[in-house]
Amino acid sequence: MNKKLVVSVIGAGGKMGTRVTNNLIKHPDTIELYYCENSEFGIKAIKERGFDVTPAEVAVPISDIVVLAVPDKIIYDVSVGIVKMMAANKSLIILDPAAAVAKELALRDDCTFVVTHPCHPSYFLDQDTYEARHDYFGGIAGKQDIVIGKIQGSEENFTKARMVSEIMFAPVVNSYVMGIRDIAFLEPTLVEILGATTLYAMAETVKEAERRGIPRAAAESFLAGHVYNLSANFLGKLGNTKVSDACLVAIDLGNRLVLRDDWKRIWDDEVLDNVIATMLHPHDPQI
Ligand SMILES: NC(=O)c1ccc[n+]([C@@H]2O[C@H](COP(=O)([O-])OP(=O)(O)OC[C@H]3O[C@@H](n4cnc5c(N)ncnc54)[C@H](O)[C@@H]3O)[C@@H](O)[C@H]2O)c1
Repeated sequence: MNKKLVVSVIGAGGKMGTRVTNNLIKHPDTIELYYCENSEFGIKAIKERGFDVTPAEVAVPISDIVVLAVPDKIIYDVSVGIVKMMAANKSLIILDPAAAVAKELALRDDCTFVVTHPCHPSYFLDQDTYEARHDYFGGIAGKQDIVIGKIQGSEENFTKARMVSEIMFAPVVNSYVMGIRDIAFLEPTLVEILGATTLYAMAETVKEAERRGIPRAAAESFLAGHVYNLSANFLGKLGNTKVSDACLVAIDLGNRLVLRDDWKRIWDDEVLDNVIATMLHPHDPQI
């Protein structure tokens, strides 16, 4: 019988720690799982779910894979201590590229370091069940893709980390392998700086519509339907179907009225570095 893969999750009582341990624990035949947590709230949450908390000093040295599920802004401080405790030729996974790109993740030459992040269930995916269609985050029932990149280390360890990542965010359709800077251009650049900002503005505009007496349900339906339809159109999923000439004029106006003329600067390397530095240390903005 093959030896089980030993996995420790640091921050197992937090938001992501809870999600990923809920999936890892479903594989007791292949994964020996340890929950590590240091806050009273997190420890209580793990115990209420019926699991024990293990000190990192005990779990990390015997782990094949350590998942660091702590907030990005403390990854430097936490990783310095955790990485020292790892045995040689083992792996550490972080769940966001920011700290790695900002070089705030402690590294060691004899270990493998990996970044993974969920794409969340796309509205273009055919989900099979009601529960899957209503799993907006993913990792419960909704099929989703993930992205994954190796910071450094061996291919053999990366393969294991990829398998564990696919379990953490299951059910996973595709795990796309790319460089960690590419992951950072997806988040924060694509989905936070641009996506979350414009979607937030859209939701604010629904509120404004409601304030002006437009039924909220109508505004919400109008928005969600158009987001679905227009994203299918602009991403080339509708063949040669084009938006109206008037819509093209409106987009041109929106580029001036809503977006800055130079908004594509968000793809400059320098802007990405300054964005990440500011997100990790908001008290010391770099942009
Ligand atoms: N929240 C999300 O939607 C989301 C989505 C994708 C990726 N991520 C990434 O997941 C990671 C974790 O984020 P989160 O939102 O789950 O954080 P969180 O604040 O919800 O949870 C972090 C947990 O870590 C614990 N912790 C802190 N220091 C610790 C230590 N030294 N030892 C043990 N436990 C410790 C805290 O007590 C807390 O329970 C981040 O890298 C984040 O970018 C988050």
